[in-house]
Amino acid sequence: MKDFKGKIVFISGGASGAGLGQAKVFGREGMKVAIGDVREDALENAKKELIAFGIPEKDILAIKVDLTNRKDYTACADKIEEVFGGPPHLLIQTAGVNSFGPVEASTFDDYDWVMGVDLNHVVNGLVIFVPRMIKAYAHKTEFWVAATSSGGAWMISPTCAPYDAAKAAVNSLMYAYNQALEPYGGGATVLCPANINSNIGNAEKFRPANLKHTGYHVSEGTMATLRSIHATGIDPVELGEILKEGIENGRVIVLPDHHPENWPQQLRSYSIQEEALCLTAAERKAAAEKQAEERRKMFEEMMKNAPKDGSAPAPRPMWGTPEGGEVFGKAREDLDWVDPANRFEKK
Ligand code: NAI
Repeated sequence: MKDFKGKIVFISGGASGAGLGQAKVFGREGMKVAIGDVREDALENAKKELIAFGIPEKDILAIKVDLTNRKDYTACADKIEEVFGGPPHLLIQTAGVNSFGPVEASTFDDYDWVMGVDLNHVVNGLVIFVPRMIKAYAHKTEFWVAATSSGGAWMISPTCAPYDAAKAAVNSLMYAYNQALEPYGGGATVLCPANINSNIGNAEKFRPANLKHTGYHVSEGTMATLRSIHATGIDPVELGEILKEGIENGRVIVLPDHHPENWPQQLRSYSIQEEALCLTAAERKAAAEKQAEERRKMFEEMMKNAPKDGSAPAPRPMWGTPEGGEVFGKAREDLDWVDPANRFEKK
């Protein structure tokens, strides 16, 4: 898809972080921008930010919607047609949440919340929008679907399992839709970032009341640590530009990184991970050590290249904690079947 001007884009999770960056980028291209998010206050702020960014108010539609609720999401799709006169030409599903803890500590609520948003909302959007998009646009004008997945789709971790599983499934779906939509004149792109300067570190604060029973240790301190890591991530507008370039060039998968010169490095670390899954425990240990060494070197390189004048936050290794922060990814202290090494311990 190359021509965006005057067309309609819908961005799920568009009130914050990566989604808001995408709204700015495609709005700047002259698209009518609909954003859907569950947080009303964030939607209002996002609308103001979009206007300040230069997007005309008449071209912005902010919809409060719980994307995991199919009735709600269908009503959101109807609203876009009612206001903008048709379904989106470009669908970007970016809403997401994350929660960290040992997979063996995971509760149904942990799975239902993370996979509900990160996978099921993408399924909901595809089922709701794609038939409408084909009927309205096939062989007439360009249309495209995209989703924001994650490097987690490959970097499968025992402390991020529901998230990684959801993202791997999203990748798989997007490869399928790319092939399926091609005969209609459409296509699909999946964006797999490593780290974004967004608000996802606060996601636990907005976990729905009916899904709050977690097996993980979550605290202000773990959220502070996550926020400090995400503060070193890629700028959402820069990320939106990278996605736009991917869509313009019909790429199925887009792998951005904070430092583009590290792309081969990042790809290499994914393939080390994939290889590791076929190995014995001893071979896996050696591969993990090799990967840790590569990451350490990459971090040293990032530190060397980081601006020293305070114009950007200093890079922080994944294994560090800021002041007032706490290690994340531990189980609740009371889960007596979880290995003590994986359990939060009160000091
Ligand atoms: P963010 O927290 O800034 O934005 C996510 C938005 O999704 C929030 O505004 C939130 O209210 C919304 N949302 C959550 N549940 C919802 C629901 N049920 N219905 C409607 N809206 C809902 O986070 P960020 O980082 O911008 O996340 C965007 C995407 O990027 C996510 O899919 C995330 O998994 C992915 N990602 C993020 C990375 C990062 O380092 N932050 C790295 C790789 C991928």
